[in-house]
Amino acid sequence: MSVESRPIYYPNKAFAKEARIKNMCEYHDLMDWAKEDYEGYWDHWAKEKIDWFEPYETVLDESNAPFYKWFNGGKLNVTHQCIDRHLDVRKNKAAIIFEGDRGDKQIITYLELYRNVNRFANLLKNEFNVKKGDRVVLYMPMIPEAAYAMLACARIGAIHSVVFGGFSAEALRDRILDAEAKVVITADGAFRKGKPYMLKPVVDTALEEGCDCVEKVLVVQRNMEDVVWIEGRDYSYNELIDLEKDLCEPEVMDSEDPLFLLYTSGSTGKPKGVQHSQAGYILWAQMTMEWVFDVKENDTYWCTADIGWITGHTYIVYGPLAAGATTVMFEGVPTYPDAGRAWKMVEEYKINQFYTAPTAIRVLHKMGEHEPEKYDLSSLKVLGTVGEPIDPPAWKWYYEKIGGGRCSIVDTWWQTETGGHMISPLPGATPIKPGCATFPLPGIMAEVIERDGTPVEPGEQGLLCITKPWPSMIRTIWNDPDRFVKSYFGDAKKDGQPVYFSGDGAVIDEDGYITITGRVDDVINVSGHRLGTAEVEAAIKKHPHVAEVAVVGKPDDIKGESIFAFVVLKNAEDTFGEEAELVKEINQVIATEIGNIAKCDTIKVVPGLPKTRSGKVMRRILRAIAKGEEIKQDISTLEDPSIVAKIQTCVIG
Ligand code: PRX
Repeated sequence: MSVESRPIYYPNKAFAKEARIKNMCEYHDLMDWAKEDYEGYWDHWAKEKIDWFEPYETVLDESNAPFYKWFNGGKLNVTHQCIDRHLDVRKNKAAIIFEGDRGDKQIITYLELYRNVNRFANLLKNEFNVKKGDRVVLYMPMIPEAAYAMLACARIGAIHSVVFGGFSAEALRDRILDAEAKVVITADGAFRKGKPYMLKPVVDTALEEGCDCVEKVLVVQRNMEDVVWIEGRDYSYNELIDLEKDLCEPEVMDSEDPLFLLYTSGSTGKPKGVQHSQAGYILWAQMTMEWVFDVKENDTYWCTADIGWITGHTYIVYGPLAAGATTVMFEGVPTYPDAGRAWKMVEEYKINQFYTAPTAIRVLHKMGEHEPEKYDLSSLKVLGTVGEPIDPPAWKWYYEKIGGGRCSIVDTWWQTETGGHMISPLPGATPIKPGCATFPLPGIMAEVIERDGTPVEPGEQGLLCITKPWPSMIRTIWNDPDRFVKSYFGDAKKDGQPVYFSGDGAVIDEDGYITITGRVDDVINVSGHRLGTAEVEAAIKKHPHVAEVAVVGKPDDIKGESIFAFVVLKNAEDTFGEEAELVKEINQVIATEIGNIAKCDTIKVVPGLPKTRSGKVMRRILRAIAKGEEIKQDISTLEDPSIVAKIQTCVIG
């Protein structure tokens, strides 16, 4: 369906009346203000929202672009912003509501959170000698201690780097080494679908080789399964935490000190350590919580992401807590024990804002179309989606069956690098076109342009760029500033100056609505998770029989995209008659090198890859073959045009 022919859904009038941004006039006023006086605009919000220890000297320092500095010279501590400053008015309010996989529950008030984070901070500081600027890797399940650990690092000025629990030991090791982490915080394991699963053994394997930087491993005992303990290296959180004092003075941090690293995939094999800063990040995390979810004092907000991804950082931990909200943290999966689990939780906690990925919506729709009818979902006010485009059937079900036709759906476009939402409807203001992220948030200068900065015509695809720096933007790639500049500021210019290019394509319609069309680089989006084709290819090449490989994304009804690999073997006879076995082996290599999330849905052995005379693999052709489409592009420039038909035969056969 073209964007133009989509129906428009207007915000609920009663909701809009109470919303922070009530209509499009208010939106345009904010946007105009930002356009006219960019620094004045951000200065206003930074002063209004952040509880500074000492004021900043400059709002935006562009002298070393693109290494922009925001609120330079200002002093603050993010945990003071997220916890301490709330104690006067909210000490007994629930900060975190935790629900375990098996239904166990914990409510952690702001005062309890304060104590837990302080004690954790003291433990890291006093027992593990973690200092300001040290890196701490977290390999944690979705339990409150994961949030405490992040905040404890922030309290003492250590830089955390959370590695998603689905990554393999190899992937974990790469990230530990790149960050040169001093301490790893993990858990014995946790529970999923009623059963225990393990994390600590993965850490043990990761640390077997070459991780001399790691001095200590702190283990939260969650599932109480037996784990190996290495004397002098491994320590039990459960035993040590009660020995620590309740007060740890927050480290005085500069606005531009790093807050955390989060590794994400790019178009080369090596993941990038995206570095975020203190003040700009927390400011935008808080403001977007307030504007996009419109969270009110008595609301209960639930984001189903994992803290291993940026969504978990900004919209489970930092954003909600900075806004003084109640954030729900869930250990399990929304389909266990049945596809009504999430809706049961919405009813039970009277959730007001629910934020999830389109993949989850599609799974819940498919597995339990009528489940929502069994529960009272009337508490819901705002529904959110993130990470991938949402297709019309999933949108409609979400809107009608979950939102009861009264909740705005905020389709939030953003990235690990942007720190917070960039393009999204405002729930009380924006008329929504389904599947469309709509407009840039007030203060965000997102544009769809050609490489030279020319705005695209309505309906034409262009590059989605952010043409002015924004407070929560990536500051650099850890240990690799050149790659930072090349990755984000090398492709597009405006008025002759390099601007941030997101890697996404987009179209803008006649009404100015922006629809994301997906990555234009070699990144695949599987279930809202970002994977680099080069990363998956590098893993597959580790299989001893593989000579060459090219990986592409193939549209998938549930996952958005699935991974399709074209493999050329060193010896054709290597697979003879046992391709299924080889496919299994290759997926095992991927699971070892990266993790199960990167396994291929389809692996086809082919006699060669479609390459240009200069040796570049024509992925567009492979994408078309994977989709089963007719090849329309000119293949005469290929080194061997006949290879296309041969590959097609292998794929069909
Ligand atoms: O391609 C875009 C897609 O996810 C990418 C960012 O991935 P990551 O850094 O892992 O962060 C995901 C969570 C913020 C983007 O470059 N993406 C994100 N949000 C949307 C989206 N695609 C379409 N619509 C969205 N709302």
